[in-house]
Amino acid sequence: MIKVAFYDAKEYDKPSFERCGAQHGVQFRFLETKLNPDTVGLAQGSDAVCVFVNDTVNAAVIDQLHAYGVKLIALRSAGYNNVDVRAAFGKVHVVHVPAYSPYAVAEHAIALLLTSVRRIHKAYNRTREFNFSLNGLTGFDFHGKTVGVIGTGKIGRIFIDICRGFGMKVIAYDLFPAPDSGIDYVPLDRLFQESDIISLHCPLTDETRHMIGAEAIGKMKKGVVIVNTSRGGLIDAEALLEGIKARKVGAACLDVYEEEADVFFEDRSGHILNDDLLSRLISMPNVIVTSHQAFLTEEALNNIAETTVGNILSYFHNDGICDNELCYRCGSIERCKKERKERCF
Ligand code: NAI
Repeated sequence: MIKVAFYDAKEYDKPSFERCGAQHGVQFRFLETKLNPDTVGLAQGSDAVCVFVNDTVNAAVIDQLHAYGVKLIALRSAGYNNVDVRAAFGKVHVVHVPAYSPYAVAEHAIALLLTSVRRIHKAYNRTREFNFSLNGLTGFDFHGKTVGVIGTGKIGRIFIDICRGFGMKVIAYDLFPAPDSGIDYVPLDRLFQESDIISLHCPLTDETRHMIGAEAIGKMKKGVVIVNTSRGGLIDAEALLEGIKARKVGAACLDVYEEEADVFFEDRSGHILNDDLLSRLISMPNVIVTSHQAFLTEEALNNIAETTVGNILSYFHNDGICDNELCYRCGSIERCKKERKERCF
């Protein structure tokens, strides 16, 4: 039996992971707490840890895991900005789930966008109170509008396909444009200037942190709608709030927030929220916040569990070779192992 400490476990995680683990000899110990320097001790005696987006997997945590003999950090997410992959090199192997349902995320981005632009959230509340007035509910047609997509990987491209179905003009920016994709790539500044809607689908890196800040917002069209289902740190939330107050940003749809780690995924309804910025954003009539929910479909949960268990099995039963390993050494964190077909260390 391979023993795995499963941090930040939620009710919706358990059925798929229990089923998949039982089928393949992987025993998950579900822990409600997040992984951080204070809770790393709970991993003692485990062969691997399974972590999610708001677990803290910094150098100190990695050193401690290494000291406990933990061999593998299995991310049950695609993004890995919360893991110090460089610090892990030579100590603990890191694997992730590169794709589980890009459709889930792209479709959620569209759901947020339609809800916001057509004021569905307002209408829902009104009709529940038998208020059938339409005042203030005017939206705009997607057809003919320009959408700027930043990041044209798996999710970005599905989002683009859906937008094209609406008859929107799509322009895009990517650090590594996909050749022969038929996507109209433009410089970032032009994307900011021409887009009616901007949707973020790139990873959070040192380069992309706060890529949507005061300067970028200054270049955008008045009334622009900004959608972020990627990572909160892509947006400088204070600058976004200023943009909204100045009536420059027409609406914001946020599934992620830079300081979400202590708030999202939990029921805080009986508490006073200490984050004034998030409170202010939520209080805006043209901001919709969901709690990092874009991935949450049946299909995605099953794929996440299957790939994670597959990653764990390949590591422990395949000489440590796993296609989904993350290793910084060869320059391309995600491609290193696949191209080498050998252990990175
Ligand atoms: P992907 O790796 O397939 O695509 C990312 C794209 O971003 C690539 O084309 C890459 O070249 C591009 N990129 C990298 N650096 C860039 C930069 N500096 N500027 C512009 N583009 C850049 O990733 P995928 O699967 O499409 O996921 C995108 C992001 O969505 C993930 O990084 C993750 O943070 C987020 N995500 C959010 C979820 C949620 O539940 N809200 C669930 C899954 C992913």
